Amino acid sequence: MRIAFFDAKGYDKPSFEKYADEAGITIKFYETKLCEDTVTLARGCDGVCVFVNDEVSATVIDMLLEEGCKFIALRCAGYNNVDLKHLNGRMPVFHVPAYSPHSVAEHAMAMLLTSIRRIHKAYIRTRDFNFSLNGMTGFDLHSKTVGIVGTGKIGRCFIDICRGFGMKILAYDKYPADIPDVTYVDTDTLFRESDIISLHCPLMKDTYHMIDENAIEKMKKRAIIINTSRGALIDARALLSAIKERRIGGACLDVYEEESDFFFEDFSNHIVEDDILTRLISMPNVIVTSHQAFLTEEALDNIAQTTVENITAFMNGETLKNTVSI
Ligand code: NAI
Repeated sequence: MRIAFFDAKGYDKPSFEKYADEAGITIKFYETKLCEDTVTLARGCDGVCVFVNDEVSATVIDMLLEEGCKFIALRCAGYNNVDLKHLNGRMPVFHVPAYSPHSVAEHAMAMLLTSIRRIHKAYIRTRDFNFSLNGMTGFDLHSKTVGIVGTGKIGRCFIDICRGFGMKILAYDKYPADIPDVTYVDTDTLFRESDIISLHCPLMKDTYHMIDENAIEKMKKRAIIINTSRGALIDARALLSAIKERRIGGACLDVYEEESDFFFEDFSNHIVEDDILTRLISMPNVIVTSHQAFLTEEALDNIAQTTVENITAFMNGETLKNTVSI
């Protein structure tokens, strides 16, 4: 069994090599992303292993099938980058439904605290021996209302963390669950009443740009939006306008609509062409991390283990647990 592993980073290799060796799988690591231009690298491989920004479009799918690939193994939870409709079940797609919801939820809280307690500013100030506190006033999370969109695995971990801070919890989910001390409301109410809004739902047709001009209009002037889910849940242009016009308190973004052009790569010696991203990053009340919420040792280990288990189950003709379909 040979697998072409796209968008490989140094931190992926140790855990994948460990589990793949044990399972007798050979992995060919490629730093490049999967797209129409790189799909031929999968020639001679039984399948591909891809991540969030690999492009598994209709054309790429047809080319993978022509190259003889028999499966697509996503080493992430989300699968919005795969054209499942076009694939139409012609080969299985596996994903890793849960690897560490704590990693993402904890990162969301880290970004929130950084933002509201001005830690990003304090870090730079004290390194320059500037011990002034002007402009550093934050606010307590205790007694504030957090609105969680999507109460799945990550949303629930974030709820638990917020409970620890003594926050009141509102939630919206297309499929509400029974969670103690959580009040489900419609999105309008959630936008209107929340001091913090955190997105933990998948990117789909009906969640695309769910935070747009209209939604922001309903929010409190001091509301902070956290997005650790998928960039296109937020209309970044509308968010930037709201930030510039001081209609919103701030944003914590681990994901960005056009992130596939930039995230995971070093652009420190380049001129970044995306004016919305650069303007957002320049704002004192916007924190951007480059899709790193998942990046903990525990999560990397679980991702590699589950991905290799998915492939091994396929190889052995066993029942497949983690397949995704339309
Ligand atoms: P999950 O599947 O456990 O939970 C998703 C929740 O969203 C479910 O409760 C579901 O009912 C709800 N939902 C579905 N459609 C909805 C809609 N139209 N409106 C509102 N809610 C809806 O997924 P999990 O593991 O909690 O992950 C959530 C998202 O986090 C993933 O879709 C993925 O995009 C993102 N993610 C980001 C990572 C990062 O590193 N930044 C890492 C892992 C996941």
